[in-house]
Amino acid sequence: MALIKIRTSEEPVLRQKSREITKITKKIKVLAQDMLDTMYQANGVGLAAPQVGISERIVVIDVGTGPIVLINPVITKAEGKNRDVEGCLSLPGRNEYVTRAEKVSVVALDLTGKQINLTGEGLLARAFQHEIDHLNGILFIDYLNPAKE
Ligand code: NI
Repeated sequence: MALIKIRTSEEPVLRQKSREITKITKKIKVLAQDMLDTMYQANGVGLAAPQVGISERIVVIDVGTGPIVLINPVITKAEGKNRDVEGCLSLPGRNEYVTRAEKVSVVALDLTGKQINLTGEGLLARAFQHEIDHLNGILFIDYLNPAKE
């Protein structure tokens, strides 16, 4: 098991747009496992590669139903609204209400390079949106109304 240092919000890598992964190498597979280990160790439900300093489009998620690895994930459908408290391993101690879509469908590649289509509701939908945002340099605090801070 290898743990990777989780980057916090002031680090520029969290604000960059991550690169598409064009080949699923051994290195990517090791990264996915290390990200899962790091996420579980930190008691998180999701982690995106920029959070461990790597600007590539891969995220890991586990909302209690088992590990999910998504490579080059894209949201294909978003429905409804859900407002709930959200946190981020890169913003320790910070928890705020964020409105997200209630139900989201995602297309991505798995670690074998196969295309997968997943649909999630509630917490899983929130995790898809939050983690994919990380690949685009977006943090959940960006959705907060500055006037209310
Ligand atoms: Ni996060």
